[in-house]
Amino acid sequence: MAARVNGIHHVTSGVAGAQEDIDFFTQAVGQRMIKQTVLFDGEKPIYHLYYANRNAEVGSVMTCFPMKQAGLVGRKGSGQIRTTCYSVPVGSLAFWEGHLDHHGVQRGAVAQRFGQNTLAFTHPAGLEFELIEDGDDKTEGWTTDEISADVAVRGFHSIVMSVRDTEEQERFFIEGLGFTKAGTEGAYTRFHINEGGAQKTVDLLHEPDRKQGTWAFAQGIVHHVAFAVPTEKEQTVVKAHLEGLGYTDVSEIKDRNYFHSIYCRSPGGILCEVATCDIGFAIDEPKDHLGEKLLLPPWFEPRRAEIVAPLEPIKVPSYAAAG
Ligand SMILES: [Fe+2]
Repeated sequence: MAARVNGIHHVTSGVAGAQEDIDFFTQAVGQRMIKQTVLFDGEKPIYHLYYANRNAEVGSVMTCFPMKQAGLVGRKGSGQIRTTCYSVPVGSLAFWEGHLDHHGVQRGAVAQRFGQNTLAFTHPAGLEFELIEDGDDKTEGWTTDEISADVAVRGFHSIVMSVRDTEEQERFFIEGLGFTKAGTEGAYTRFHINEGGAQKTVDLLHEPDRKQGTWAFAQGIVHHVAFAVPTEKEQTVVKAHLEGLGYTDVSEIKDRNYFHSIYCRSPGGILCEVATCDIGFAIDEPKDHLGEKLLLPPWFEPRRAEIVAPLEPIKVPSYAAAG
């Protein structure tokens, strides 16, 4: 049976400062800034910054809420996405070691998981990332003055979810979303979405003694992962299927301007979104000028002055549109 979602759509995390985040993702990771907007939920104006690969493809979209002004620092723990993993070309990790060092990014040493080379590194707000060498990811990376096409980050490879107990989390992904179990390695269990590979892989990390992490919007933690469906038609089918299995806390469909979303808290504690692919990031600005201006959804536009006033002034990289 085919999976009920096509792969990872985006990953959303809380960070600290906005400029620090922009510099990290556009210079150290080398992603393209594709959108500046604000968090649509809640009362406090908070930026919502989006980064992606060359073609702003679903499966490469990292989104961040700079929470510094709100003040809440998250506790990392179980019931959370522990690591967000990007795919990079085979043989590129030697470049990445030097590049991350050049940008003062805290990193580990090259290691291996499920037969692939990995390199762990840390966002200034404490978020954990990995680069995973994967020769089969043919999506196009963004390039910078320092990062050429032959080493650039493609998109997400996978995410690692930290759970205290795996059984019910596995049931949710297998029966609920149609994932298949692909293997185990130590405390890791790998799941594939259809054929697996980059953007279609999820690892569960069994950490029975790890204290539960923060679920709220907060600095230094991943808030949720979104999986992709083509349109609301498939999204409605996923919602009904999950509800039919007893996961009745699937949200209503929310308008996220660039996609429509439903959310469900998985049994292991990780918030999972299912987002559509039929709207996209060129809905409110030209494809080759993504991310240059602060854009608000139509329902916030009348309040622009009030929303923008408390936000940290930011400078978007000069190559944001040139790449
Ligand atoms: Fe999301």
